[in-house]
Amino acid sequence: MRGAATFAAEFAPENMAYAAVVFATIARGRVTALDIAAATGAPGVVLVLTHENAPRLKPMPLFMTAGKAGGGDDLPILQDAEVHYNGQPIALVLAETLEQAEHAASLIEATYEIDEAVTTLEAGKARGTRTGIAFGQPAHVEIGKPEDELATAAHRFEATYTTPRHNHNAIEPHAVTLYWQDGELYMHDAVQAVNHVAWSVGSVFGLGEDKVHVTSPYVGGGFGSKVLWSHQILAAVAAREAGRPVRLSLSREGVYRTVGGRAQTEQRVALGADAQGRLQALQHTGTVIMSAHNALPEPFILSAQSSYATKSMLLDIQVATLDMLANTFMRAPGEAVGSFGLESAMDELAERLGIDPIELRIRNEPEKDPMKGLPFSSRQVVWCWRTAAERFGWDKRQAPGLRREGEWLVGLGCAMAGYPYQRMPGGAAGITLTADGRAQVSVAAHEMGMGTSTVHTQVAADRLALPMDAIEFRYGDNALPGVVLAGGSQQTASVGSAIIVATRELVKELLQLAGNASPLAGLSADEVGTTHGGLASLADPQRYESYASILSRAGRFELSVVGQAPMPGEGMHWSMHSHGAIFVEARVNAVTGEVRVPRLTGAYDCGRILNPKTATSQLRGGIIMGLGAALMEETQVDPRNGRIMNASLSEYHLPVHLDVPDIEVIFSDIPDPVSPMGARGIGEIGITGVSAAVANAVYNATGKRVRDLPITLDKLL
Ligand code: MOS
Repeated sequence: MRGAATFAAEFAPENMAYAAVVFATIARGRVTALDIAAATGAPGVVLVLTHENAPRLKPMPLFMTAGKAGGGDDLPILQDAEVHYNGQPIALVLAETLEQAEHAASLIEATYEIDEAVTTLEAGKARGTRTGIAFGQPAHVEIGKPEDELATAAHRFEATYTTPRHNHNAIEPHAVTLYWQDGELYMHDAVQAVNHVAWSVGSVFGLGEDKVHVTSPYVGGGFGSKVLWSHQILAAVAAREAGRPVRLSLSREGVYRTVGGRAQTEQRVALGADAQGRLQALQHTGTVIMSAHNALPEPFILSAQSSYATKSMLLDIQVATLDMLANTFMRAPGEAVGSFGLESAMDELAERLGIDPIELRIRNEPEKDPMKGLPFSSRQVVWCWRTAAERFGWDKRQAPGLRREGEWLVGLGCAMAGYPYQRMPGGAAGITLTADGRAQVSVAAHEMGMGTSTVHTQVAADRLALPMDAIEFRYGDNALPGVVLAGGSQQTASVGSAIIVATRELVKELLQLAGNASPLAGLSADEVGTTHGGLASLADPQRYESYASILSRAGRFELSVVGQAPMPGEGMHWSMHSHGAIFVEARVNAVTGEVRVPRLTGAYDCGRILNPKTATSQLRGGIIMGLGAALMEETQVDPRNGRIMNASLSEYHLPVHLDVPDIEVIFSDIPDPVSPMGARGIGEIGITGVSAAVANAVYNATGKRVRDLPITLDKLL
């Protein structure tokens, strides 16, 4: 609305200088000479920073390796001449305008000594792989006798599925505006982890996190990419050296060069089933590419861990180490591409067994978590299948290749969707109640366009029994309570559980303030509830006093509490996941091979839905991203030098409005009995299953099985 939302690159402190980055053009080696004379003398140039004049810095603490580490990689930034990946920043120019900075950056000439680099999965495999370590756990699972069971199963199916690298393309490219004042750093940063960024930047500069102030009031999408990368460090160094505020806004190309994406995977799925289609062996193994400076071997085995009952299981992630920019988290890391392999293979097995693919999956519904052995907190998978199938018209599906409308072959396909429930430690919320009957609720959480602030305004209004317009939800600032990552589809549960605790604290404090002159006198926190902008006895609602009255009688203008969410223990006793079933109609042009998807229907069981409008929108966004992965998205790399060749939105294809069909989203809205508020995450499940459902629909249309994403027309001709 009227440009009133200020994004990170829209803050304009006085005397600000603009930064531009120079990226290495080799995959591995070192800079032997850097000619900065022309750049230094170019109009408007304030500073040219290279490894030769940059101050000494510590590396960024790598995301997920320590409590508040938030770095996408842990490589030194302008600390030496070494080049570790094509695109690595080798210089920064600061100038009076962005155009002057970019022009001067273009004048810098680098000379390199080039080392041999490993730039492809094949070369990485040839050099030897290692077992991935994901979040401290070896990415290897073996239950029962998966090899014997596969060998002796009545029916066996085995195939290899491949998915390419993907790059992040949030609508808002990464950007930071920052300045130093009295030795403290103030950053307006487009991030999804304000506390992680503050702590990590502090550790790079040898500062306490209380000296780094990060705000992130509006973010144009994150999807896992909006953490700490080199550009924030470069900007902070430049601002300190120049003694001026700095804005560094990465170009779209700059995002491709210095912000990691999703890793390429090569997945083998082997399924052994008995005569009735019950799984005896489920094997999901394969190799992913990864840089040596990163913490995430793309965990494609996650879907297989909890989807199906099976007598035996073998899961394994091998890592091929490449000389490349660190790969990273991207919406549903693991499941987004892992579900392509697993759910394609289930479709292929169903075909061989002559069983309807939905029926095959329902026959393999587990009673408890197949890997952990824990009971499910809530699992409405069969509801998802039945509901979506009926709405979609699954009964109209024909045998492969039979339905043709003019030039178009028409097919229907489906796949299971799923994503785990998580709640990370650190959730906290502050509530300030004022005597005018309003409340300010503060959490160091993030709004990236998904509806966080709306939903938590709603949650707080509900809990406090105040109208929504009496609530101000403050977020996106590391000075606020809580360490809340907008990631892993866990922000809502984390914030919600903290608001619940903070509300309880508030009630206790209010009862104290109310004292003996109140109708509430003598009641404990367990005996009252919030209602009509105040507290009332649960047993006798006549015993009521408004917040405003309690505060004014006590002579207080305001009352503040902070509630710390309990340590997340629910996941130790329960297997907790959101589930879904996604159905796709695919039309494949018999002449050109072009694929169109005119309609998608998904039924999802994500626990209680706090806001149907924002939740549906989250699911649609995820599904559209899945459609991109299915049909278009692919980071293309020149194997000779490890350079991303399609670093722009004109050559890296994403769905645009004309590619996006009718998407119907249905929610079970059945509260999870174990999660705070009954809600599970919804941010990531939407992307899962989609590419398999598209591949399965394309198979049904054409009789051709594509096991390599994206499903481009050349693979269908
Ligand atoms: Mo996400 S990949 O947890 O932002």
